[in-house]
Amino acid sequence: MAEGQSQEDPKLQVEAAGKAFEQEFERFVRFTGDAVAETSLSLREGESEQRALAEVRTRHFGKKSALAACKKAIGRVSPDERAAFGQLVQQIESNLSQKIEQAEQTLNRLVESARTQRESIDVTIPGRHPRRGHLHPITLVRERIEDIFVTLGYAIEDGREIETDFYNFDALNIPQSHPARAPQDTFYTTDGFALRSQTSTVQIHAMQRRGAPVRMIAPGRVFRRDTPDPTHNPMFFQVEGLCVDRGISMAHLKGTVAEFLRRMFGPNTVTRFRPSYFPFTEPSAEFDFSCFKCGGSGCRICKNSGWIELGGSGMVHPNVLLAAGVDPNEFSGFAFGFGIDRMCGLMYSLDDIRLLFENDLRFLEQFE
Ligand code: DAH
Repeated sequence: MAEGQSQEDPKLQVEAAGKAFEQEFERFVRFTGDAVAETSLSLREGESEQRALAEVRTRHFGKKSALAACKKAIGRVSPDERAAFGQLVQQIESNLSQKIEQAEQTLNRLVESARTQRESIDVTIPGRHPRRGHLHPITLVRERIEDIFVTLGYAIEDGREIETDFYNFDALNIPQSHPARAPQDTFYTTDGFALRSQTSTVQIHAMQRRGAPVRMIAPGRVFRRDTPDPTHNPMFFQVEGLCVDRGISMAHLKGTVAEFLRRMFGPNTVTRFRPSYFPFTEPSAEFDFSCFKCGGSGCRICKNSGWIELGGSGMVHPNVLLAAGVDPNEFSGFAFGFGIDRMCGLMYSLDDIRLLFENDLRFLEQFE
């Protein structure tokens, strides 16, 4: 012990150590004596009080504490005062350690029960319902289309989204010089491959795989180099239809499309065909149907024309049948194609088709 300190009254020193402890211990008094019954703590509070109390213990009972210094000083006190001083030190030490032990025990108990409470499971609390998903509006429309064609005896084909030049163009009688083959219009991947720009490609796969006769529809994604705007998106959905058999004529095409549209939009729906041109059909026609909203009198949806333009169609070109290994002398067929998203946009009065692809839940949840 340093010179100066040894000259101080050791009795005063031990009393000072006791006082210093009492002062720091004040905030833990609530964990001793009668106050304990009303004390409750959160797990976090409890654990932080435990840490603080452990620090108090080290400071006041540790090797470098004032109390430890006093104990060492016992031997240096004059023999006649030694016994009394030793007793004083012991008394103060046992008094303090009793308090701190009590507080520690209480805290341990409180922390333990807070932990148990946190970990306990109340099996009687009602469960949280997981949110149920629902179908995307495009899926809803696609499934309606599929249901109608399945009842008309059509199979559903699943095509591929990356195609070779053969399926994309050559087999569909699209000449080398056709603008659709230009890279400004089509997304080419590696040489000779492109993202299909129409579902007509599936006609070829279906005939190659199934031969003739064949009746199928092929819904799916198609890709075009279009700048997105309210009526365009570089990825959109189409459905293709193909019917090949002996003696198939334009009358079958008109009857089938008209029946489909009546089932889709109501029994009074009228269909009309306009001459058109597509490389893979001859003759070709575009088809419209009477507006499902106004019935033909003119409204915002049909832009006051009374008609809604839907898609393209025609009698399958003999070159297409040949490319797919079907004999055009024995078989003939019709084909058609239209946009699912466009139909979806009309049915739900969407003023921007891009809403269908943004996956904004505020939009999608309206179709629950
Ligand atoms: N593939 C055409 C398009 O994307 C639509 C189409 C027209 C499909 C005539 C056909 C068809 O099957 O015969 O615009």
